[in-house]
Amino acid sequence: MNTINQTILHQSRGVERIIEGVATSDGAGVKLTRVLTGKLQHRLDPFLMLDAFGSDNPNDYIAGFPDHPHRGFETVTYMLSGRMRHRDSAGHEGLLENGGVQWMTAGRGVIHSEIPEQKDGVMEGFQLWLNLPARRKMAEPWYRDIASREIPEYVTAKNVTVRVIAGTSNGVTGAVTREDTEPMYLDIHLPAGASFSTALPSTHNAFIYVYRGTVKVGDTLVESHRMGILSNTPEADGVALTAAEDARLILIAGRPLNEPIVQYGPFVMNTQEEIHQAMDDFRNGHLA
Ligand code: CO
Repeated sequence: MNTINQTILHQSRGVERIIEGVATSDGAGVKLTRVLTGKLQHRLDPFLMLDAFGSDNPNDYIAGFPDHPHRGFETVTYMLSGRMRHRDSAGHEGLLENGGVQWMTAGRGVIHSEIPEQKDGVMEGFQLWLNLPARRKMAEPWYRDIASREIPEYVTAKNVTVRVIAGTSNGVTGAVTREDTEPMYLDIHLPAGASFSTALPSTHNAFIYVYRGTVKVGDTLVESHRMGILSNTPEADGVALTAAEDARLILIAGRPLNEPIVQYGPFVMNTQEEIHQAMDDFRNGHLA
């Protein structure tokens, strides 16, 4: 683990809006909060969805997500706590557990299942959907399980621990990089009173989601279980935040694709015709 000195910013982004998310269920009845909903897909391009799940009641998660298709984007599942078995039609299988990440590029299509491998205890984490550019929507499916110990981490002089799932923060490059959308995905743990900053390209859309404690960005408090959309301020070269109490959050940023987004459930393409094609391919067994 490296101890690093943080970049000094000229100006931090602020919080444009706080989002509470919508309680819903998906799969075979998994309870979750949809934090990034369809309405925010353009504002937060290239991100299409963020679900937060967290429960110690097995009834909320035990049925999991049986076989279902995806086409046209990537799914990134970060498991804070719990064990989930993944299988897909491209022949991949893996166990996602405590602190690990599963990164799946659906591309032209996969059918997969995500089923809990625990009968009790806490299951907590996030699933993020990251769009693919038009020219890569029909790419070959790709998949990687990244165990917790393989995720690069650094600790700042202020004792802030940062796990770099994707992108580069304060000189530390994460487990995954993507050239089209340049996603940054950090899990940041701050002791009460500590400050943290990281550079962000001003062209990128960015947000935080606080899952423990409360943080302050400029004058804005972002409480637990809230998303803060970070303003796109051309002069700002990053974001700085302070923990009002012990806090944990994810920080996600990416370069917008600025392409049309047409979604029908688990298919995200650029045109209605491509959606019809995806549905036909799924029905005719050509998707897998
Ligand atoms: Co899925």
